[in-house]
Amino acid sequence: MRILSGIQPSGKLHLGNYFGMMQPAIALQDEGEAFYFIADYHSLTTVTNPAELRQNVRDVAIDFLACGLDPAKAVFFRQSDVPEVTELSWLLSCVCPMGLLERCHSYKDKTARGLEATHGLFAYPILMAADILLYDSDIVPVGKDQKQHVEVTRDLALKMNHLYGEGLLRIPQPRIRESSAAVPGTDGAKMSKSYRNTIPLFETAKVTEKLIKGIKTDSTPVEDPKDPSDSIIVDLFRLVASPGEVEVMEEAFRKGGTGYGDFKKRLFSAIWEHFEPMRAGRAELEANPDQVDAILRAGAEKARSVAAKVLSRVRQAVGL
Ligand code: TYM
Repeated sequence: MRILSGIQPSGKLHLGNYFGMMQPAIALQDEGEAFYFIADYHSLTTVTNPAELRQNVRDVAIDFLACGLDPAKAVFFRQSDVPEVTELSWLLSCVCPMGLLERCHSYKDKTARGLEATHGLFAYPILMAADILLYDSDIVPVGKDQKQHVEVTRDLALKMNHLYGEGLLRIPQPRIRESSAAVPGTDGAKMSKSYRNTIPLFETAKVTEKLIKGIKTDSTPVEDPKDPSDSIIVDLFRLVASPGEVEVMEEAFRKGGTGYGDFKKRLFSAIWEHFEPMRAGRAELEANPDQVDAILRAGAEKARSVAAKVLSRVRQAVGL
């Protein structure tokens, strides 16, 4: 079984990235052949500063390794180190109906928020399909926001197979962990770099605490009972606390007498503790940038050898 997923180096990684994709992906590295990459081609749709892009790639690599990606188990690489993906992307483009892309929510959301409607942004799902299909992937662990893109991938693979021969491309399945499919941000909307509502994984304690203090709450007075089923604080706490701890918090919500400020303090402590061991690992990796570069280089070499075979199969099939 081959497992594949990617993450864009478009800013600091946050709790949504971690619980939606990184943690499930890290758990899956023991269950099959895992391929995880830093989607730098994709992030060119939003990051136009070259120095910032390079720094982001380095930071994402360090964060993912610190969180537990094990390069002895998973192939870890930079997307642009395997330029074959752009050729497959073109081959898929040639069979991709415009309507399939026009229906994609992500493009509509991004342009509605003021991002320029570039061709790259529009064709983003095709490059993502190429990422997935280039490695004969079976399982794609992602958050809910990426489900539609995996569906587009399946449609394109089925169409290629129909046109050029059954079995040409492997049909992948999304793997979405329901309990963290859409992690809320501090304002209650989906946590996202572009909504400015994130809690980054590796900020200072001061900044993290400040962001948590900024979580949106209603104006229920301290002494009154509160509804735990409608609380961003409880939703985030559930990701980092044990079921027993969650129950205690929910009970305190219902009972009244505790203010939101207090619950936010508990949430901060739980988040801070959860990432404590990873912070230590991160500091070590940060001091060894050469080691990180070597991991990505070795990963690219392995990824490229798989990609070359699949691409050559597809080139042959289409008549190139
Ligand atoms: P990116 O960088 O936007 O997101 C990386 C992963 O984090 C998940 N995610 C979330 N999950 C739950 N709750 C949230 N609030 C949240 N925010 C982000 C995303 O669903 C994603 O899994 N297009 C991909 C990158 C990519 C890719 C691929 C993924 C490029 N090629 C091929 C899989 C296979 C993306 O959105 O990355």
